[in-house]
Amino acid sequence: MTDLRPSTKSFLRALNREPVSPPPCWLMRQAGRYLPEYRAVRASVSGFLELCYSPEKAAEVTLQPLRRYGFDAAILFSDILVVPDGLGQAVTFREGEGPSLKPIRTSKDLDALSLDAFQDRLQPVFQTVERLHRDIPPSTALIGFAGAPWTVATYMVEGSGSKDFVQTKIMAYERPDLFQRLIDLLVQATGDYLIKQIDHGAEAIQLFDSWAGVLPEDQFAKWVIEPTRHLVERLRSSRPGIPIIGFPRGAGALYQQFVDGTGIDGVSLDTSIPLDWAVKTLQSKTTLQGNLDPVMVVAGGQALDAAVDRILRICGNGPFIFNLGHGILPNTPPENVARLVERVRRRS
Ligand code: CP3
Repeated sequence: MTDLRPSTKSFLRALNREPVSPPPCWLMRQAGRYLPEYRAVRASVSGFLELCYSPEKAAEVTLQPLRRYGFDAAILFSDILVVPDGLGQAVTFREGEGPSLKPIRTSKDLDALSLDAFQDRLQPVFQTVERLHRDIPPSTALIGFAGAPWTVATYMVEGSGSKDFVQTKIMAYERPDLFQRLIDLLVQATGDYLIKQIDHGAEAIQLFDSWAGVLPEDQFAKWVIEPTRHLVERLRSSRPGIPIIGFPRGAGALYQQFVDGTGIDGVSLDTSIPLDWAVKTLQSKTTLQGNLDPVMVVAGGQALDAAVDRILRICGNGPFIFNLGHGILPNTPPENVARLVERVRRRS
């Protein structure tokens, strides 16, 4: 049962559009290679996905940054690519090279994917959520997540990371029927997956659309907004009261269509978004989250202080969650993260 009493968790209150001062703070990729204690756990497994599928270890690395910094939210430790892996398109991560998958290019490739074993394969992730639900501090919110269909589809079609997404775009433009089948499958699988995360204890959801910014306007409507809207509608009707944050990274002025078209509760701003514009255009409709340049946290010092202060000054008078504009970088000094968190907390 969803608990509909007012929350004492500042992160959930901000998503409920309540004024919270100082604003809640968490950082994308807050669990990761910049922390020596993460690297130690990572060294105890052979592959990255093995870490995602080991509930005890995945829960441990989720909690590590909370112990150091007391963030207001924890994000489940997993990866967006467990969804294709669960559908039967095996994913491997090679050291320093990123993900590798056997690319989907034809309807026959698509036929090989299946929802039959999906929930069973991802059972370890749900066990991680269950442990976290039990173990996180009472004032910390637990965020579940998935990749948005478009971004997950780019990895499935390219077979790896990409700079130009030519194969994926060719399929979307030349064979929209085929590409729609892939997107529909991802909407279904991702919805099932997120509902399970919620049922095991996730209190909010973030949808990562890291490559939303590479599509022209009409294609953005079709492959970013539409599938996201379907997911939001399904989650809203089946698990009411669970807030959803969208992250259409790189979407520029299309952030506005994204917010209007999907109805999400919060929007994560990438580093390039002008904040005065976001406050004026978006903040009356949705909670803003973001958008410190991750490189500022590598730089540290007074440049970091000034950048934090500027974001708080512009965004901090309405519903707002402090975060980065993209994930924290592996070469970030952990003490700079401490400095950032103290700076945000000083504000009241
Ligand atoms: O703290 C957290 O944010 C929790 C976990 C998390 C990871 N990946 C762990 C991870 C989350 C939310 C993600 C999301 C994710 N994964 C995205 C969307 C956000 C974004 O960064 O744009 C994407 C595109 C992926 C796919 C992915 N995972 C790639 C391309 C790579 C390789 C590049 C890299 O950074 O190494 C990963 C690996 C990955 N996912 C790592 C971590 C901590 C590093 C791998 C390792 O520790 O060996």
